[in-house]
Amino acid sequence: MKASIVLLPGDGIGPEVTSAAVAVLQKIASRFGHEFLFQDALIGGGAIDATGSALPDETLRAAEGSDAILLGAVGGPKWDNPTAAVRPEQGLLKIRKHFDLYANLRPVKAYPALAAHTPLRPELLEGVDILFVRELTGGMYFGERKEQGDDDFAYDTEYYSVTEVERVAHIAFRAAQGRRRKLTSVDKANVLAAMRLWRRTVVKVHEDYADVALDHVLVDACTMHLITRPASFDVVVASNMFGDILSDEASVLAGSLGMLPSASLGAGKIGLYEPVHGSAPDIAGQGKANPTGAILSAAMMLRYSLKLEAEAAAVERAVDAALASGARTADIAPRGGSYISTQEYQAAVLSAL
Ligand code: IPM
Ligand code: MN
Repeated sequence: MKASIVLLPGDGIGPEVTSAAVAVLQKIASRFGHEFLFQDALIGGGAIDATGSALPDETLRAAEGSDAILLGAVGGPKWDNPTAAVRPEQGLLKIRKHFDLYANLRPVKAYPALAAHTPLRPELLEGVDILFVRELTGGMYFGERKEQGDDDFAYDTEYYSVTEVERVAHIAFRAAQGRRRKLTSVDKANVLAAMRLWRRTVVKVHEDYADVALDHVLVDACTMHLITRPASFDVVVASNMFGDILSDEASVLAGSLGMLPSASLGAGKIGLYEPVHGSAPDIAGQGKANPTGAILSAAMMLRYSLKLEAEAAAVERAVDAALASGARTADIAPRGGSYISTQEYQAAVLSAL
């Protein structure tokens, strides 16, 4: 097949990990007889420097004409002034909103090869395979807000409509049907009105999915259960804010934040694929970045946007094989042990392919 893919490498380690993912996609194209056309565009801090906007119109137009978007990371100390009117993160929030990408899928699994790298006892990690479904275009991220300005107060609003919760709940229930048929809905219904609406709505949507077992967990308890009994979770659905926090917490189960991919899907045909990690400016340009999150995001792109399941599975197997053969970037190397560069790791994945 022919597909056009817009690349938004962004800032920090974004370009390094994106280029590893592109190398993997090119190998997939030649092995399976596809033609992938790549087009680079600006987002984040680099876009601010070049155009004054974190998400230039040109980037949106390119993305609109594409089949899928592959993003690296945005942000860095250079643009970290908290009072600045334009911030790199705005690029990310705007592109999610522009394409109505309301469901962010963040799979987290424990890699047996990396068990020793996590602070948890290995027996707790056995069988850990969680899919986080994070609501991505609502809640506090997009609610009414007031900056401090000249006042001595500021606020953000947690706002959810029934429709917003329904649509992400449907995605989560359907995902659970294709897995172990268990859905955990995370909220804070004991305190917040928007979270009571969240729980009521998820209960209502559950009527369409009698084959899925649903439970509700308060977010504070959930943070604890993720560490004490991570293998008991299957699909977890959470608000934008809670999903952001819980998925970083859960990355510990995988051995490193650098391992985690994500897919942001919505009502339209365009999906956005990005590693869960940030721009890691402290290690940018040193060949220390772990490109696994970006490579597995490319696999999710093959699966969800291009409907190339065999190709996606081939990429995932290649990552497993590279890890099994001992390939380790700095973040997943044994303490004091040796590690390989981003490019050498990319080569290990390519040779496994
Ligand atoms: C993420 C990031 C973003 C978020 C930031 C960079 C705006 O932390 O994708 O998880 O909070 O959504
Ligand atoms: Mn985050």
